[in-house]
Amino acid sequence: MDHFLYRDGVLYAEDVRVADIATQVGTPFYCYSTATLARHYKLFDDALEGTDHLVCFAMKSNSNQAVIKVLGDLGAGMDVVSGGEYLRARAAGIPGSRIVFSGVGKTREEMKMALEGGIRQFNVESEPEMFALNEVALSLGVIAPIAVRVNPDVDAKTHAKIATGKSENKFGIPISRAVQVYAMAAGMQGLDAIGIDVHIGSQLTELEPFETAYQKVAELTKTLRAEGHDIRRLDLGGGLGIPYERSNSAPPLPVEYGALIKRTLGDLGCEIEIEPGRLISGNAGILVSKVIYLKEGEDRKFLILDAAMNDLIRPSMYDAYHDIIPVAEPVPGLETTRYDIVGPVCESGDTFAKGRHLPPITEGDLVAFRSAGAYGAVMSSEYNSRPLIPEVLVKGDQFAVIRARPSFEEMINRDNIPAWL
Ligand code: LLP
Repeated sequence: MDHFLYRDGVLYAEDVRVADIATQVGTPFYCYSTATLARHYKLFDDALEGTDHLVCFAMKSNSNQAVIKVLGDLGAGMDVVSGGEYLRARAAGIPGSRIVFSGVGKTREEMKMALEGGIRQFNVESEPEMFALNEVALSLGVIAPIAVRVNPDVDAKTHAKIATGKSENKFGIPISRAVQVYAMAAGMQGLDAIGIDVHIGSQLTELEPFETAYQKVAELTKTLRAEGHDIRRLDLGGGLGIPYERSNSAPPLPVEYGALIKRTLGDLGCEIEIEPGRLISGNAGILVSKVIYLKEGEDRKFLILDAAMNDLIRPSMYDAYHDIIPVAEPVPGLETTRYDIVGPVCESGDTFAKGRHLPPITEGDLVAFRSAGAYGAVMSSEYNSRPLIPEVLVKGDQFAVIRARPSFEEMINRDNIPAWL
């Protein structure tokens, strides 16, 4: 459930008319709902009730500081994957003790930044990274808490570009080598191996791959404890999918996911961490765009919007489906027309949807892409010299621009033409 609903014939974001935001901010823009963010965070928090746990929001899905603050104020931790995300989390008021640092290629500079600024744990993904972190920690005279990310070789049954738990993927240490790697870590003075980390992919629509992976983690926990390692924390990653296509069967709910965690790992007495991104931010955001032209092709009609692939790359990158709805509520029973819905960017890949049925629509009308709060704004670019689009946050009947649209001058003035040219 989200808070983007039709009321009195128009689309609202909580208690604000989406069209009113468009008038003030201009299109295209992203719009997030505070109540939806909070609701989705709480679904996970409640699902793990009764276990010692921390829900660390995967900031890669949406790293706007206002979004981070909404979640941080509710008690969320953050899962970061770069120095930039770490600093954003800190700037939004998240204490280091609630920040987990993931990623396959953490640099020594990033390790130093996090160790000096405060960090809950590093999720280490390779032996060379472990050596580097040990060195950095020793040079600072501190001990780095780590979880080793294991690759359980499990098929997440999701899009190949976002599956991470198979042995061919670059992520984690093969689970078969874990015992060796923990033994190695135990010999390093700068490291304290406190836990195990696993993340098998994103937009998972079944629980079974999680179950297989978590069972392997449970076994490994017992094995490592038997070897004398004090494993006291399990980071189970993110990945629970969301219903992009309302006609499809819905993915499992956080409460079912929580029950699975308790069933597979609950008796180990470990603190549980999870790193959901999409399920918290995805349906908490829409992308609002305006129809520029209706164009007649040879055998099809094109709806040309002012948003493009540089603003929302998911359809062109993953063939992702996003519901696209008119901001003015369609009158029931009216005939629909099939459109290819496209942006103005100069490549055919700039297509959001093909053969999508829409009710009567005309130039200047507003449309909203649903489920655009995750991996939307964060993946945008200035391709075709299109300025990054603004982000807006709604709370009840108030809204604020939480990232402004840069002017053309700001965008252009970032280039430097050397004096010697
Ligand atoms: N933890 C780790 C280590 C991750 O790599 C990811 C996502 C997450 C947590 C959060 O996963 P989530 O709960 O959001 O599924 N750009 C792609 C998704 C890439 C996901 C990358 N890793 C998309 O638009 O579908």
